[in-house]
Amino acid sequence: MLSTIFLANLRINSLIKVFNESMGGISQSVRTNVPAIASTGTSLIASTTAKRAGDFQYSHVTAMDRYPELYGLAHDLWAKHPIAIGPPYLLSYGASTGREAVTLATKYFNHSMILGIDIDEPTLTAARDFAQKNFVSERVHFINGKKVHVDEKFHMIFANSVLCYHPNFNVKRFPFEAFTRGVGQLTRLLKPRGYLFVYNPSYRLWDTNFSKCWERAGSLPGGCGFVPLHDTAGKPLPEGWSTDCVFQKTNTCE
Ligand SMILES: C[S@@+](CC[C@H](N)C(=O)[O-])C[C@H]1O[C@@H](n2cnc3c(N)ncnc32)[C@H](O)[C@@H]1O
Repeated sequence: MLSTIFLANLRINSLIKVFNESMGGISQSVRTNVPAIASTGTSLIASTTAKRAGDFQYSHVTAMDRYPELYGLAHDLWAKHPIAIGPPYLLSYGASTGREAVTLATKYFNHSMILGIDIDEPTLTAARDFAQKNFVSERVHFINGKKVHVDEKFHMIFANSVLCYHPNFNVKRFPFEAFTRGVGQLTRLLKPRGYLFVYNPSYRLWDTNFSKCWERAGSLPGGCGFVPLHDTAGKPLPEGWSTDCVFQKTNTCE
């Protein structure tokens, strides 16, 4: 049996369902702690892990302040058009070693609470380590998306360089259906009128059946990445790469 504990250092109550694989995938609702351990370093991380079913981008490449234009736009959107009073609750989806989450916590959203989700345990350990070394581990936490199902909703979600398969795109390894599934998950995790940022997608959000859930909330002069875009069959699109990466949830999908 899973024990029930309260997460003291998360101000937002975290009702999380833990999937216990040994129980045949039956989920249980628990309140759980998200541990934080320590580390350092700000350099580009370029390791990879083997791709498994349900995974998106296989590389863990990341860096501090990797998308300054995008993060700056997110900051401005929250300053001018906040969807709640007070600091936002942010999700760094495909968090890798925590550079994005720590960047957001220290440079763009100083009082925010941030959850980072990844599926690779060594990467998550490095992320917790990094948060602690940067003195933000009380408000930046990391969990394994394969072990923990998050029931909370976020004001902003950053899904950068994760809804893709790059380089060496392979439609069999990352079909459009997998992208759609990811967009659907993120749609459900966002609060009404929340913001979604998707840099470097392999497909267009507008081609999914969640397109009605989204409207453009801004644009970046330099475009939204360098990863080649594909149609729903996995054929490269003539436009090259994404120019849409800033979205706001419509009222249609609440
Ligand atoms: C290239 S890194 C992106 C890091 C960061 N978002 C950035 O843009 O710098 C992609 C990360 O997504 C993670 N990932 C892959 N599939 C995932 C999934 N289904 N759920 C959560 N994370 C996933 C990988 O383990 C990897 O660490």
